[in-house]
Amino acid sequence: MPDLSTTYLGLGLRNPLIASASPLTLDLGNIRALEDAGAGAVVLPSVFEEQIEQEEAEYEATMWAGAESIAEATSFLPPVSRPGGPHLVLETIRRARAAVDIPVIASLNGVSAAGWVGYAAALAQAGASAIELNVYFVPVDPALTAARVEAHYLDVLRSVKQVVHIPVAMKLGPFFTAPGAMVRALDDAGADGFVLFNRFYQPDIDLATMRVQRDLALSTPAELRLPLLWLGVLAGTLRGSLAASTGVESADEVVKYLLVGADAVMTTSALLRHGVRHMATLVDGLAAWLDARDANLADIKGRMSRAKLRDTDAYERANYIRILQDWRPH
Ligand SMILES: Cc1cc2nc3c(=O)[nH]c(=O)nc-3n(C[C@H](O)[C@H](O)[C@H](O)COP(=O)(O)O)c2cc1C
Repeated sequence: MPDLSTTYLGLGLRNPLIASASPLTLDLGNIRALEDAGAGAVVLPSVFEEQIEQEEAEYEATMWAGAESIAEATSFLPPVSRPGGPHLVLETIRRARAAVDIPVIASLNGVSAAGWVGYAAALAQAGASAIELNVYFVPVDPALTAARVEAHYLDVLRSVKQVVHIPVAMKLGPFFTAPGAMVRALDDAGADGFVLFNRFYQPDIDLATMRVQRDLALSTPAELRLPLLWLGVLAGTLRGSLAASTGVESADEVVKYLLVGADAVMTTSALLRHGVRHMATLVDGLAAWLDARDANLADIKGRMSRAKLRDTDAYERANYIRILQDWRPH
């Protein structure tokens, strides 16, 4: 059996496979089953800024004004339709820590550097091994410059780092003018790792109902290439660690992400599609791939990163020109 162990966010993992944030991991039975199926760690579904503020408003209303004002106090907040509020996540972390040995990572999702970030302390106190910070933010205001958007990400990270001592990872989308510079700045500001990439859910139009459609399609391996590019470019250049996220369906995708330098590889869509036991297929597939080459994880990690490849053209403009010029109809 090859050695699959890796370090992510300073945490020793028995292998690099992590169940990423989704409703699957809000269930203790699933967390146990994922551990049994070989997962290296799990990430709980996000606690949202809006949920935390809503819970706090409800608490205040109960404390100071009587139960009938709760509806009034919460009516100005955006509706949060997610099942299970922040307290359920805290409870799941507490119970999971007692039930499993693998790291249990909490996820915080918000856009402001305001009071809600204090919730990170509650997650740490409940026993979270680390926090994944997802600043899901679409800068729809054209007056908002790239510099201000980037400064904002740094503010949110710093606010969370001020209240916890456990590692903090940034889960980012790919849409920055210079993703490498953004990651470097967050790395310098103390981020312990990066999850690349967050998947931005984009609207469609339903022509039958003439409505904006908000559906959630699971990913496919075709989405692997953008994270693969940036992981390959960034591997070996940062203090913090790197987790790959998006498009893992089989062990092939896991191996590709490791080759470009990911320290950990996350998956959600494949688990939702095939069930939590699919984790064992991924772990066993990775072990078999390494076994066939008489290699351990450390032997292949980062071998195809930009830093390790002599032909750095593979990641740059020259390759783009070649791709366009070499294209032939099938
Ligand atoms: C149903 C569902 C719920 C999700 N919930 C969260 C969440 O709470 N927080 C988060 O950061 N990402 C969430 N994600 C995103 C996943 O963690 C992951 O980043 C994304 O699905 C891409 O990985 P994949 O290609 O392996 O699915 C969710 C994804 C799905 C499909």
